[in-house]
Amino acid sequence: MMDGGAWAPDAGEAAATPAFPIPENVFAETVTEVEHYTDWLFRFRITRPTSFRFRSGEFAMIGLPNAEKPVFRAYSMASPAWDDTLEFFSIKVPDGPLTQHLQKIRPGDTVLLRKKATGTLVLDALLPGTRLYLFSTGTGIAPFASIIRDPETYEKFEQVVLTHTCRTAGELRYGEDLVAAMREDPLVGEMVEGRLLHYTTVTRDPAFPRQGRITDAVESGRLAADLGLPPIDPAADRAMICGSMAMLQDVKAMCLAHGLDEGANNKPGRFVVEKAFVD
Ligand code: A2P
Repeated sequence: MMDGGAWAPDAGEAAATPAFPIPENVFAETVTEVEHYTDWLFRFRITRPTSFRFRSGEFAMIGLPNAEKPVFRAYSMASPAWDDTLEFFSIKVPDGPLTQHLQKIRPGDTVLLRKKATGTLVLDALLPGTRLYLFSTGTGIAPFASIIRDPETYEKFEQVVLTHTCRTAGELRYGEDLVAAMREDPLVGEMVEGRLLHYTTVTRDPAFPRQGRITDAVESGRLAADLGLPPIDPAADRAMICGSMAMLQDVKAMCLAHGLDEGANNKPGRFVVEKAFVD
């Protein structure tokens, strides 16, 4: 675990000069925005190097200039490919090698970004279809925050169904705020009107109106009934999956059982899977 002693994010003023040299072949970017949602979730934005290219849904490696050899972790870009800053949605783990420090960043601080983006949750890995399901739990919504903001998604699919399941209602706020802002935006709102469906459930917060895991909501027909959709159909429906390992396995099994086959960049299919990138 890296406890770069010379790096002091709590010292008071923002924009502390990194005490360690920037490693070779990484971008050193500036934090522009930070928003905390719960004790264990936050989002942040950094400047985007003009030469940093990615496809919506991909991830890159992020670190902090707090050690000679900084810890890097994979983070999905939550902002779309056209955006001129980069957004990330992150958990905060008290003893997480990266997130214990990352959770303290403020505007003006430096974040390191490795130069190459990659990933499987990309439109190119899916065969053409009518409806795109984006199944997410927890911070697994991050790559889909990118995909739902990309006009290409709506060029390729008539309808986009973003599902987000968390333990408690407070964890849904990032997605709720994002979708609300999209609907209010004059240009984007028109693009997604009636075409972007956002379906949230919780599993450990009895006060919330929609309860239960997404696998149960699909299998019981509740998701289809609530949204007025037909059952999942391999001829029309495509899916992307992002969450914990257990969630990935179960939702993948569910997709296979509904006749969808797994795709990849070099062999498009009817669903794609990615693991959540956490400490
Ligand atoms: P549950 O509370 O029933 O475990 P986590 O924080 O563990 O990643 O969980 C985030 C959300 O994903 C929780 O609502 C959790 O439900 C749900 N979840 C966990 N495992 C699975 C799974 N195998 N299939 C579907 N949903 C899952």
